Amino acid sequence: MILLDGKKLSTDIKAELAQAVAQIKAEGGKTPHLAAVLVGNDGASETYVASKVKSCAEVGFESTLIRMAANTTEAELLAKIEELNQNPDIDGFIVQLPLPKHISEEKVVQAIQPQKDVDGFHPINIGRMAKGLPAYISATPYGILQMLERYQIETTGKHCVVIGRSQIVGSPMSILLARKAKIGNCTVTLCHSQTQDIAKFTRQADIIVVAMGVPEFLKGDMVSEGAIVIDVGMTRVPDSSKKSGFKLKGDVDFEAVAPKCSYITPVPGGVGLMTVSSLLQNTLLAAQGKIYAK
Ligand code: GUN
Repeated sequence: MILLDGKKLSTDIKAELAQAVAQIKAEGGKTPHLAAVLVGNDGASETYVASKVKSCAEVGFESTLIRMAANTTEAELLAKIEELNQNPDIDGFIVQLPLPKHISEEKVVQAIQPQKDVDGFHPINIGRMAKGLPAYISATPYGILQMLERYQIETTGKHCVVIGRSQIVGSPMSILLARKAKIGNCTVTLCHSQTQDIAKFTRQADIIVVAMGVPEFLKGDMVSEGAIVIDVGMTRVPDSSKKSGFKLKGDVDFEAVAPKCSYITPVPGGVGLMTVSSLLQNTLLAAQGKIYAK
């Protein structure tokens, strides 16, 4: 069993990004600039946004964190998005999800200019991704593709079972793995909350991507020998032995599943870290005008 080491891969990617930024600066170019909007003070969102801002500094990007109160109106947030759309210094920006209930996430996502939508959530980017056109690919699926690529895992002709159909992870992941591409060409089964007997599918899978948010959902008897297991789960569960008061739990019963796998991601230290480095890669693509010409 080989651990898919998100810590090492994301560190490698950040080193590559730092080198690219140094070159841009040496040539007198503009420093890539990512902005993040955080509405309210959800604990997990605070942690994720802080990690994104810190990583920008590590690679030499500029970053701007825009905090807005939990009672911000939808109109106020849409006005801020328009300001960021119009600001030529900002190459890309994200609005951290989830948003407070009184704000429509769909409206917010659609208000972001596709050229600056480095999360890859806008329908234009999702549509372009589905057609195989240049697009920002949302960070978690993009990070998973890069894990498979950098560990030289063959995907062509494999049966991949994706569990979870979220717009952020499961749905784009299923499309990407089915595409005619170097990392892709899989036969994909998309399982979700209404799937009957998920184990029937996972037992037939060469690759399993679990993105449900249900701690330890995938058990040892649901996996065949030699499977590749990618765990996207990151649920906070109480743990009094930790300073923070919680620990992160994946969607995989790691102790039982890992011995059967050829490759598996740990939690923490797997997919989560790749998500941040992928967002930075999208921001560099935005700054360079590589997806949409400037
Ligand atoms: N919430 C959970 N994951 C993400 C992400 O990748 N981007 C944004 N904007 N919000 C999230």
